[in-house]
Amino acid sequence: MKPRPHVLGLTPYKLSDNSIPDGQRPLILSQNESMFGCSPVVNEAIAQAGADLPFYPDKDNRKLRQAIAHTMQLEPDKLIFGLGSTDLIVQLCMLYLEPGRTAVASEYGYIYFRKAVGMAGGEMILAAQPDLTAKSVDNILAAVRPDTMLVFIDNPGNPTGNFLPRSEIIRLRDSLPEDVLLVLDEAYAEFVDLDQYEPCFDLVERGNVVVLRTFSKVYGLAGMRVGWGYFPTEIIDYMGRIRPAQNITTLAATAAAAAVRDQEQVYDVREKTAVIRTNFANQLSDLGLHPLPSCTNFMLCRFDSAEDTTSALNYLRANGIVIRPVDVYGLTDHLRITMGTAEQMDRVAQALGDWKAQS
Ligand SMILES: Cc1ncc(COP(=O)(O)O)c(C=O)c1O
Repeated sequence: MKPRPHVLGLTPYKLSDNSIPDGQRPLILSQNESMFGCSPVVNEAIAQAGADLPFYPDKDNRKLRQAIAHTMQLEPDKLIFGLGSTDLIVQLCMLYLEPGRTAVASEYGYIYFRKAVGMAGGEMILAAQPDLTAKSVDNILAAVRPDTMLVFIDNPGNPTGNFLPRSEIIRLRDSLPEDVLLVLDEAYAEFVDLDQYEPCFDLVERGNVVVLRTFSKVYGLAGMRVGWGYFPTEIIDYMGRIRPAQNITTLAATAAAAAVRDQEQVYDVREKTAVIRTNFANQLSDLGLHPLPSCTNFMLCRFDSAEDTTSALNYLRANGIVIRPVDVYGLTDHLRITMGTAEQMDRVAQALGDWKAQS
């Protein structure tokens, strides 16, 4: 039985290989998960949700909707939920793309955008992002064609760790043709220093922007698979026509609602991460490596050669530490490292020092 023709050209999405040798103490820093866990109030909420489990989830996710709307001062009716924000990325591609239509992202934009565009049969056009600096609005605009339906911006960017200021996002939005939808994926927005963070939810008002968020990162709930978006009403309506019913489980919605109400935990994780990030960058520099500035819970590090990069990756894995190669972006001399606790990052720095000493 043959599927739709474009599916034959696809390959499965390659998740991180987190295998380590038997007997090693695992330290998995390859998926930008939170090593601080989730708020304690989440565990209490989950324990109480047992009574609701014989029943299907609330189709409107009202408790979670209210919790987010209240905490973030947003309109509840403009919220939409997905099985992680990747689910919403896929659904947007299903809505707007098909063979003959294109989407634009930056050269080092989140790799899953390419996957989702391919799933829908669309074509991804990549805008150059020289020297791994923040995305270039001018290059993105130059890449847009008459058949372009979607522009994806991961902000802050994965794997680069840097971000575009709101003024640049507005310039992009204002310069795009009216019938192109700007998808702002803000999976790591909560990690940006408060004095630099400028929310973009209000940009949804004009109808050609959607903003995506997730509970998988700062909230420490990657296993629950809850993402959400702030969408124009018209697009919420279209999404309702293709979304699987009740795609958020009761347990996941309960956990996410409790998590978002605990903004002190978010503050705490952001502050701790910033300190750990600075210390770890210094440790890498002291080893003669080249960390890139980051405002997120991960960091790209440049090595002197592709051989060094593979050698370091293998050495760490042999010692139980898994970090992420980024050769899928053509970055064969970089590795991406999730920020764990201070002790965990000391262990990584120590292991990299040992690798340097023996290589
Ligand atoms: C930029 C970006 N967006 C979205 C996601 C996916 O998040 P979720 O777990 O909500 O599907 C990730 C995960 O790594 C990411 O890096």
